[in-house]
Amino acid sequence: MSAGRYQMYNNNSFKLGLFGANCSSGRAINKLPERWLADWDSCATMAKIADDAGIDFILPIGRWKGYGGPTNFQGTTYETVTWATGLLAQTSRITIFGTVHAPMFNPLVAAKQMVTADHIGKGRFALNVVVGWNEPEFDMFGEQQRPHETRYQYAEEWISAIKKMWTNPDAFDVNERFLHLKNVVSEPKPFNGTTPFIMNAAASDVGRNFALHHCHGFFTSFREFDVQKATGAVSSIKKQALDIGREIDVYTQGHVVCRPTRREAEEYFHYFTTEGADFEAVEQILRLKNVTRENTPDFDARMKAVPLGNIGYPLIGTPDDVAAKLKSINDAGLSGIAFSLVNYVKELPFLAQELLPRLARLGMRAA
Ligand SMILES: Cc1cc2nc3c(=O)[nH]c(=O)nc-3n(C[C@H](O)[C@H](O)[C@H](O)COP(=O)(O)O)c2cc1C
Repeated sequence: MSAGRYQMYNNNSFKLGLFGANCSSGRAINKLPERWLADWDSCATMAKIADDAGIDFILPIGRWKGYGGPTNFQGTTYETVTWATGLLAQTSRITIFGTVHAPMFNPLVAAKQMVTADHIGKGRFALNVVVGWNEPEFDMFGEQQRPHETRYQYAEEWISAIKKMWTNPDAFDVNERFLHLKNVVSEPKPFNGTTPFIMNAAASDVGRNFALHHCHGFFTSFREFDVQKATGAVSSIKKQALDIGREIDVYTQGHVVCRPTRREAEEYFHYFTTEGADFEAVEQILRLKNVTRENTPDFDARMKAVPLGNIGYPLIGTPDDVAAKLKSINDAGLSGIAFSLVNYVKELPFLAQELLPRLARLGMRAA
């Protein structure tokens, strides 16, 4: 049976994606001279290399405001649906996500933008829904952030309305707690009578429950030492999905530093997460989470942990090391990983040449 859009049109049992390239510095809070600037030409070059190499997907971050510091970490960002649309036009195989803040996008505008992207990409657009958390971003939109649980109640109405816009042939009304839409029509439908893969990025149980009921994928974080925990979490969510007649894939996030020798990889990783990190931006990230020097006794330790914690699962080492780590994530039941690089264009060719063939030999991808 040929693989459909929910398998990203291939039979790779473990999907690899590039994460965060629409934002300056990607996900590494660094001030290295080669840091990622996220300019359009670099993004387009990255997408082309990834498409040719057989990387499965590209996943942007929904980010609206930088964190300050000398680099203004993630201060230059492309809006993700338009970014995906441009990249879909220039690629032919790879799936490209938009990461869309449900509370900030009118559902009808979002539904139609995504259909446009999907037609341009001939069915390769996918949606990563986020409910948001960053107060200064909400302030820029003039929006009040809802209490945690209510954010997901809103998101349920939002995604349900969008699914109807994508599939209902007839006009319909939406009369819910938050959304009141009259006589809604939306044509064209997504590409070829199918609808996009939908993922939700979250960490909480409420977010997980939202994904379980409304999405095809759950995108969450596991640390390196959590592989055992990941196995339990993945099998439990998959079982809960089956119990309600659904299927769900679990994806995680990480950062790759892959070099010919382990020492080179480890030294580079150590450098950009310590001396090479932008600690002014780190301080602002913590402040947004209400962690300050004044209210936190071990503040310095918390500061040091952020450049490491921010990038998720660290995949550091030789091509053999990174392949072995990915295999352990796959063995834990995860369906894929979205990873960042300090410089996507500079580092991708080595991965294409050295890492992907190893993953094929481990049975995780087609040769
Ligand atoms: C893997 C992962 C990726 C995320 N990506 C984004 C993002 O791109 N933009 C954003 O504003 N929030 C992002 N978030 C945050 C979530 O949207 C959510 O606001 C946050 O996890 C808090 O909600 P929760 O308590 O339900 O997890 C991400 C969260 C996770 C776990």
